Amino acid sequence: MTSLQYIQWFRSAAPYINAFRNKTFVLLLSGEIVKSELFTNLIHDIALCHHLGIKLVLIHGSRCQVEDQLKQHKIQSIFHHNIRVSEAATMPLIIQAINQVRHTIDARLSMGLPNTPMSGSDISVISGNFVTGMPLGIIDGVDMQYSGKVRSINAASINQLLDKHVVLLSNLGYSKSGESFNLPAEELATEVASALQAEKLIFFNDEFIQNPVTDQFSTAQCSEYLQQGNVSSQLTSLLEHAILAIKQNVNRVHIIDESLDGGLLQELFTRDGAGMMITNLFYEGLRKATIDDIGGILELIQPLELSGILIKRSREQLELEINFFHVIEKDGMIIACIACIPDLETSMAEVACVAVHPDYRNSGFGDQMLTAIELEARKAKLKYLFILTTRSTHWFLEKGFTPTSIDFLPLNKQKNYNIDRQSRIMTKSVE
Ligand SMILES: CC(C)(COP(=O)(O)OP(=O)(O)OC[C@H]1O[C@@H](n2cnc3c(N)ncnc32)[C@H](O)[C@@H]1OP(=O)(O)O)[C@@H](O)C(=O)NCCC(=O)NCCS
Repeated sequence: MTSLQYIQWFRSAAPYINAFRNKTFVLLLSGEIVKSELFTNLIHDIALCHHLGIKLVLIHGSRCQVEDQLKQHKIQSIFHHNIRVSEAATMPLIIQAINQVRHTIDARLSMGLPNTPMSGSDISVISGNFVTGMPLGIIDGVDMQYSGKVRSINAASINQLLDKHVVLLSNLGYSKSGESFNLPAEELATEVASALQAEKLIFFNDEFIQNPVTDQFSTAQCSEYLQQGNVSSQLTSLLEHAILAIKQNVNRVHIIDESLDGGLLQELFTRDGAGMMITNLFYEGLRKATIDDIGGILELIQPLELSGILIKRSREQLELEINFFHVIEKDGMIIACIACIPDLETSMAEVACVAVHPDYRNSGFGDQMLTAIELEARKAKLKYLFILTTRSTHWFLEKGFTPTSIDFLPLNKQKNYNIDRQSRIMTKSVE
């Protein structure tokens, strides 16, 4: 990377840095990830996030460490419904394995040798009895003993600490009777993220939903994939917890590629991402248009055509172009639309017919649609978007479009340019 590229990358990360400051992120570090070769680098990246002002709660699992510990003592675990029965006799060994993982993370976050990414890093990590657990009980006649579930989270205490400290929680819950319960780390991370109303819940995994067009999914899309049934049990569990977290008001859940060095930073601070994101914020109501939407689109755009803001589109033209449209539907009404019409010869696409119903303006719908179009254009390997606008130059300027000349346009667009309208031509690179 040249210095200039480096500087450009750094500048491009600035909006993310600003957006994430003081936001709460909950990260699940599985026992496997703590054991992996990339863990030291992940810790450096976590430290960097902390220093950038992100409030961090780290939840760790310890499945493989508990397994190793029990094997060393020649103890074979009983599993019921894929959950280990944490027996009274083995609980001391289980707790020892869990504590060992916590110590490893504590120690790594305390590093600060000169000439390492942790140089000058002074992170205070706090753990505590913030999680109350309860027994899973007897399932189909099997007593799950000290395998537990989350009863409550002391969110107020965790929140108080997050201004200055990283909070590290083990997959243990303490009961009012003074017992400790072995908790599933995914459930704990989900419940903590929900209790804190976290901005992000972050999982790591080596498998994702494969979709060539997008790496962003709504909970409805995730449920559809789960219903298709060809998703591994590990990914199924993560997706189910992601859906639950979003239902419980976590804004976004990320599943980041655990085999990628720097995956966390790539997912958070670049447009490319490194895994998948599940959110309903972005997708609520936003979808590709179908032929049935033409009536709704016409109703939305006709007043704008009459006032000369949009150029007139006939029903026939809309029918031909409908596959290039996205719409936002609310309560059965089309409240916004956008078209992205590609010109494959020039690797450009025209953004057209951008409209948000007057009752719904200034709520970010225009921005959401534009972001969706940009994502799609990038996935389709297009290079530039362009727009011809008379009244919304500043809106597009604020979205990163810059003015350009007519020569920039594909030839057919140059030929059809309406001199009387004197539209401004603006473009944005999506590479
Ligand atoms: C332009 C338009 C699509 C924006 O949609 P939106 O959902 O209201 O936009 P967002 O909520 O994402 O953004 C709102 C911000 O943009 C600003 N904005 C809205 N329209 C603007 C315009 N025409 N010019 C400059 N800024 C504008 C708002 O003031 C607001 O800024 P603020 O948050 O600082 O107050 C919508 O106003 C619209 O439908 N306008 C009429 C049709 C049109 O002009 N389409 C463009 C044709 S090329």
